Amino acid sequence: MRRRDATFICQSCGAVYSRWQGKCDACGEWNTVAEESSPSAGAHAPGRKPRKGRLFPLEALTGAAHHPPRLASGLAEFDRVTGGGFVRGSVLLLGGDPGIGKSTLLVQVAAALARGRHRAVFISGEEAVAQVRLRAERLGLAGAAVELAAETSIEDIVSTLAEGETPRLVIIDSIQTMWTDTADSAPGTVTQVRASAQALIRFAKRSGAAVILVGHVTKDGQIAGPRVVEHMVDAVLSFEGEGSQQFRVLRAAKNRFGPTDEIGVFEMTGGGLREVPNPSELFLSERDLGSPGTAVFAGIEGSRPLLVELQALVVPTAFGTPRRAVNGWDQNRLSMVLAVLEARCGVRLSGHDVYLNVAGGLRIQEPAADLAAAAALVSSLSNAPLPADAVYFGEISLSGAVRPVAQTGARLKEAQKLGFARAIVPEAARSEGSEQALSLQFVAKLTDLVVGIAAVEPPAAPRNLREERRHKAGMT
Ligand code: TYD
Ligand code: MG
Repeated sequence: MRRRDATFICQSCGAVYSRWQGKCDACGEWNTVAEESSPSAGAHAPGRKPRKGRLFPLEALTGAAHHPPRLASGLAEFDRVTGGGFVRGSVLLLGGDPGIGKSTLLVQVAAALARGRHRAVFISGEEAVAQVRLRAERLGLAGAAVELAAETSIEDIVSTLAEGETPRLVIIDSIQTMWTDTADSAPGTVTQVRASAQALIRFAKRSGAAVILVGHVTKDGQIAGPRVVEHMVDAVLSFEGEGSQQFRVLRAAKNRFGPTDEIGVFEMTGGGLREVPNPSELFLSERDLGSPGTAVFAGIEGSRPLLVELQALVVPTAFGTPRRAVNGWDQNRLSMVLAVLEARCGVRLSGHDVYLNVAGGLRIQEPAADLAAAAALVSSLSNAPLPADAVYFGEISLSGAVRPVAQTGARLKEAQKLGFARAIVPEAARSEGSEQALSLQFVAKLTDLVVGIAAVEPPAAPRNLREERRHKAGMT
């Protein structure tokens, strides 16, 4: 009988099995378990002499460090996210929902680079050359010296690119459409995606060309295919936005050569993506002044302050279970703010549906938005509009205290620049914000904010019958 020393390894999480199975028990992914020959138990292959390892010098952490040479694309918002441009031999993965504008963005990046007389190659596995041309024409970039091809074979692509002058930038749109002879499964499968990515990464490291891989995302926003590709590449960028809104935000989830907290803001127009150098102005351009339930949050994205409007709607629940819907913010964070309002400030919200929306389709991650969210919620509940010239920021703790957040000065400066006259900030920011021209109102506890907005007397209106009954049954 032939001895089998093959093992089956999940290509997504790396779990090892002794036989094939359709679903990985460890990570729950389907069709990711593939056969791989296991390394033999001994240190060396049978029949081959054990090799003595080459000796290499170990060095100190201090010493001459040269910054990797970078090539700026010329699109400032794009370069901000990558950390100043493309590093030679680096590989970027760009993910995003279908139709969000990934191909459009990359055609513009390639054209910008070509305009600077650098060789840029765009390989499309999804669209025909004519389609890419048509798009470039619509973007007014038809004259750019970008080299185009519609190809999907990795071997052909690598051989073609290795000919002649090395391109500075190679765009592969998308990695899921590529296939390589070294793996025999269909394009788009985990094995193919991984093998194709590996071949392209090897090409990038060898030649010094920067490579951008476009990656599809699954329904829950993860880049489809193996997570290992995310580990293999130097940077993972995601392009996000609401399909119905014209704003698009580019973010880095991982970056070996730069920061991960910077965002690039673009606007999708009829003529392609337009850079937005001052996003606050854009996000506040359509404010609904004087209506209850809106608060302006002075946030920070990376090194840049960003003012956005939070909109809340609090209405009595029509059905049994109250609804909590949130757009652009963390659902758990909203639940926490609601719980603190209820437990520490006597604001009864358990019989109300709560909707919270970040204007403009932006997604914010900072806990500093807690105070603005609470202000919007209380404003909507008590039907009392907040002052239109005020900004809010501060983190709320479970005890109901308002905690300080980083970069108070930058937030206040941006608010002042955009014409705001006052800021509602944590008590602990008193020392930092003292020299500001804004009028500051300090809150130490969330109750101070609630009392300031309106005198909310707990159980505001007599409860309706259904709620009374639910209470009796002990359901709330
Ligand atoms: P695309 O770059 O093809 O998205 P992806 O590659 O991420 O799938 O973008 C397609 C969308 O962008 C499409 O819905 C139309 C819109 N669009 C514009 O609004 N203006 C333009 O100038 C272009 C080229 C596209
Ligand atoms: Mg595309």
